[in-house]
Amino acid sequence: MKEKKQLVVSAIKDGTVIDHIPARLLFNVINILGLAKIENQITFGTNLESHKLGKKAIIKLSEVFFRKDDLDRIALIAPQAKINVIREYEVVEKKTVEVPDHVEGIVKCVNPACITNNQPVRTKFEVVSKQPVSLKCHYCEKITDSDNLVMISHR
Ligand code: CTP
Ligand code: ZN
Repeated sequence: MKEKKQLVVSAIKDGTVIDHIPARLLFNVINILGLAKIENQITFGTNLESHKLGKKAIIKLSEVFFRKDDLDRIALIAPQAKINVIREYEVVEKKTVEVPDHVEGIVKCVNPACITNNQPVRTKFEVVSKQPVSLKCHYCEKITDSDNLVMISHR
């Protein structure tokens, strides 16, 4: 049965719904957005039926509206996710997320000798592939890919 009909996770009044998260990635998304540290109401559901994904997860954040940095974080982990902005119980905006061409200060460089791992220098990468994600460090030129993607926590 469709999640919409029975609405397993209650509707929210104002905020953001991250929908169509592959279920296995739910906790990665929670971590990369630093949701453990925010005080807003958060509800989520996982292993919900989805025709597209098999099993999907959904996160609903009251009174939270994402900045570009948050959307880029989601794109790096779960590019299939759909962002719904809710105002007065209505979906006022639907957004897809896209891996940007450059990534700054979100991901760690895989190279332990890289200046960004040894000095207070913000990481900076050129995106050489978006699917799967592959990032080339601006400083050491080493490739960080989806298998060794470590995000820098924020909030
Ligand atoms: N939603 C919510 N609170 C609201 C309105 C919507 O939590 N006040 C959630 C819905 O549960 C759904 C998402 O926001 O998970 C998008 O809502 P809607 O566009 O109405 O659902 P669908 O048409 O199923 O969207 P899609 O086609 O993107 O799955
Ligand atoms: Zn580097």
